[in-house]
Amino acid sequence: MLKTLQRRSLSNDGPIETAPKFELKPPPYPLNALEPIISQQTLEYHWGKHHRAYVDNLNKQIAGTDLEGKSLEEIIVISYNKGDILPAFNNAAQAWNHEFFWESIKPGGGGKPSGDLLKQIERDFGSFEKLIDELKIAATTQFGSGWAWLAYKENRLDVGNAENPLASEADKKLIVVKSPNAVNPLVWGYYPLLTIDVWEHAYYLDFQNRRPDYISHFLEKLVSWEAVSSRLEQAKVLIAEKEKEDERKKREEEEELLTGGSRAQVYPYSDAEGIVE
Ligand SMILES: [Fe+2]
Repeated sequence: MLKTLQRRSLSNDGPIETAPKFELKPPPYPLNALEPIISQQTLEYHWGKHHRAYVDNLNKQIAGTDLEGKSLEEIIVISYNKGDILPAFNNAAQAWNHEFFWESIKPGGGGKPSGDLLKQIERDFGSFEKLIDELKIAATTQFGSGWAWLAYKENRLDVGNAENPLASEADKKLIVVKSPNAVNPLVWGYYPLLTIDVWEHAYYLDFQNRRPDYISHFLEKLVSWEAVSSRLEQAKVLIAEKEKEDERKKREEEEELLTGGSRAQVYPYSDAEGIVE
């Protein structure tokens, strides 16, 4: 995700001061590479102006605050503040969402995934076509500005930060969700795999008010299922590491409890021997 760089600036006194700064990363293809579906003009505005403004504003907004020096993901989760959104949230989440969006698509994308990803889709949605239907519904019915997502949800029904974590969903499965404005599934503890930007700035120059057409073209011709597949693999690795760590902590606590328990039995014995006052 967005890299934190060291910003170098000369103060009037001479010494170089440094402060963390997020960098605007370009899409991994030329700005005209998504034509004719998404025009170069759209990319020039969408990436060159909108995305840039989120990153620039975030850097200004967090300078000198407690959020400076934190990762972008940390800033997003902290500033979401259980739905009672703090000022930095919108720029932070939009900076993250857009970089993730550019890397969700590629020239000559679309088609159908294969391998483990396809198996997982078929297990969780019944078929690839049903997943596409769900994504289309989420993206077209998001009222106003926002995002549609495919995400992976681990075994966590007690997501502390969630305003509405859809707690009735089964565990460790793919889900489709939509989110308003800048909100993304990181705030619910999900692992985002794919996103569709349904802000008007994403499609209006090319499709005007025909959002459903934009979504169909996006899914049929642009999605990088390779990116989705590698994100799913990463999510599973991270979850497995986390579970291993949780297991290790649990074992340590149990051992601690056991040791504490034997001590409790030693003391009365020592006491009886007159060793302890
Ligand atoms: Fe956007």
